[in-house]
Amino acid sequence: MSAAAEVVRSHAGAAPVRLGLVLGSGLGGLAESVQEAVRIPYADLPGFPVSGVSGHAGEMLVGRLGGARVALLAGRAHYYEQGDARAMDAPIAALKALGAEAIALSNAAGSTREETGPGALMAISDHINLSGANPLIGAEGDARFVSMVDAYDPELRARLRDIAEGQGAPIAEGVYAWFSGPSFETPAEINMARVLGADAVGMSTAPETILARYHGLKVAAVSVITNYAAGMTGRPLSHVETKEEGARAATRLQALLTEFAGSFA
Ligand code: HPA
Repeated sequence: MSAAAEVVRSHAGAAPVRLGLVLGSGLGGLAESVQEAVRIPYADLPGFPVSGVSGHAGEMLVGRLGGARVALLAGRAHYYEQGDARAMDAPIAALKALGAEAIALSNAAGSTREETGPGALMAISDHINLSGANPLIGAEGDARFVSMVDAYDPELRARLRDIAEGQGAPIAEGVYAWFSGPSFETPAEINMARVLGADAVGMSTAPETILARYHGLKVAAVSVITNYAAGMTGRPLSHVETKEEGARAATRLQALLTEFAGSFA
């Protein structure tokens, strides 16, 4: 049962959506590509977070992207806002209730790798949860013991890779480490993350992937590398810089996700 899905159907019609999308920091431009879009503010959707982070709009769009019927979440709530790792539970449950088979998550992330610099896109192959939090704490029953093997669906990842290559803009692939934020990491934390096998670091996506697997959605996820992680350049990190680099790479992310959505038509 998703009360929010009922509200969405009453506005946008009962036809099932094929794919859900979640847009990260500074990556909201894709919303403009949704055709015949019905826009519903999070404030009208029961259980949805009302996010205050700059660069996040906070509305659901239902319409066509690349020819497929999609529901797009422009604006996500982060664990660091209220200390609630479950903040995106209602939106993700709503996508499932609306008929989505899969969810495409995007985020802005820092790279721990010299060879993958600002402006690169990276398909997430796995994650490391360094936050100490889990969105399923408090959930009941055996369903909470969700397998996280191949949580980032290998077939969808191969599809992303093929589409990117076809568009002449190959993407990297790697492991994403979830830090709680909102402070950026220390250089020592980044060295640790690299040693542990993280290729990118960020403050989102992992909880949504856990929730999506819990709700039975396949997951594809792409990081937009906005900066080298802390300690790699000798300069401090800034949220403004993150948003500016995100905007530049966003055009390529939009082309990638539009064609990816089309593969669900
Ligand atoms: N660290 C954490 N989150 C981020 C970063 C980073 O370097 N860049 C963009 N989001």
